[in-house]
Amino acid sequence: MPQSASKKVILGVCGGIAAYKTPTLVRLMKKAGWDVQVILTPAAHRFVTAETLATVSGRPVLTDFFKNSNGEWNNHVELGLWADYMLIAPATASTLAKMASGLSDNLLVTTYLSARCKVAVSPAMDLDMYQHPAFRENLQKLEKHDVAVIPAASGELASGLSGEGRMPEPEELFQFLEEQFATTGKLLNKKVLVSAGPTYENIDPVRFIGNHSSGKMGYAIAEAFKSQGAEVTLVSGPVHLDAPAGIETISVQSAMQMHDACIRAANNADIVVMAAAVADYRPAVKAEEKIKKTGDALTIELVKNPDILAEIGKNKRNGQIVVGFALETNNEMEHAKDKLSRKNLDIVIMNSLKDANAGFGHDTNKVTIISSNGKTVSLGLKSKKDVARDIVSAICDLSGIE
Ligand code: PMT
Repeated sequence: MPQSASKKVILGVCGGIAAYKTPTLVRLMKKAGWDVQVILTPAAHRFVTAETLATVSGRPVLTDFFKNSNGEWNNHVELGLWADYMLIAPATASTLAKMASGLSDNLLVTTYLSARCKVAVSPAMDLDMYQHPAFRENLQKLEKHDVAVIPAASGELASGLSGEGRMPEPEELFQFLEEQFATTGKLLNKKVLVSAGPTYENIDPVRFIGNHSSGKMGYAIAEAFKSQGAEVTLVSGPVHLDAPAGIETISVQSAMQMHDACIRAANNADIVVMAAAVADYRPAVKAEEKIKKTGDALTIELVKNPDILAEIGKNKRNGQIVVGFALETNNEMEHAKDKLSRKNLDIVIMNSLKDANAGFGHDTNKVTIISSNGKTVSLGLKSKKDVARDIVSAICDLSGIE
């Protein structure tokens, strides 16, 4: 293989409809100055042409072991050693099963088995295949083999059904790769604690007090920090999101468990961002057995949970940055500013449940970033990923990180 100083990526493409998106992905990588070697499985040729991918990558596309009948062949070992990163997108159930079991009957899987670089897969298939236990077991096996799994997106599928199974857009896959190569982010070597999601406060073995937090805001913040090179610990309440690749994720249920995990991680953190919706109260006692329906009314005594953010703010170390959220429904700015000073924060992020498509559950949010230096920036409605990037920028600005 020709050598170069730029990033060298093998893009493996399998036979799925999402293969039609791969020329765009290759173009993004080429625009970034990377060398891209595309390997197609035999079935992939039915969904995207080798000519298109060879044109955009500037290299012949490989599929076969043998180049022609004179004995020349494509050396999978050389390919595997050449690459800095190998991404298989779309990855079909069939290729993933071969990878998990080491069945090397084509150039792509053989190259995977020879590769010394990091490998990621972006599974794309119909929703029932995506949930099938056999497929899930293969994914788990691959994760044990240190293969990063990029979760499939939700939406309309080629079958006409709708659900999880779509390959993420090329821009998202490119961003994922950029993050994998991040050795120079603004926050390299910074330790960051992010909390996300709700807490569940058990009433009895079947019931709990919870809230509508999906975890999307906190997870987006954790990923935005990671993309800047930070070492991120994510303390997450119960959510339906996949643990983000490359981020230490600690799963908790209750506010007390979140308290313990956050206080421990905050001791070493340079930056703390509490995006979790922590229950302020919990039942004084958790009934051992299911509470039976007896009278017309039931009273449950609640006791106060510790305010995790206030505790971290109170014990803030010199130079440590502590950021909280304020989820409000009225007198938003007043309440948010009160939290900023009362909890000894550097920044408070105000979001209001009065704003459409903001707050709980949505993929979007509308926030005002209020800093302790008096700077206040109100942003329009945007994706939680963009909001997360704005929050990271505001933290960098406040701490003088260029
Ligand atoms: O998860 P999503 O569906 O994406 O929704 C995002 C979100 C709405 C949950 C998020 O943007 C948000 O506003 N998170 C904070 C919600 C909240 O509990 O706000 P609060 O105003 O009640 O609390 C203020 C701050 O104190 C928060 O940073 C909270 O994490 C923290 N807190 C609150 C109570 C407590 N016992 N301990 C705490 O640390």
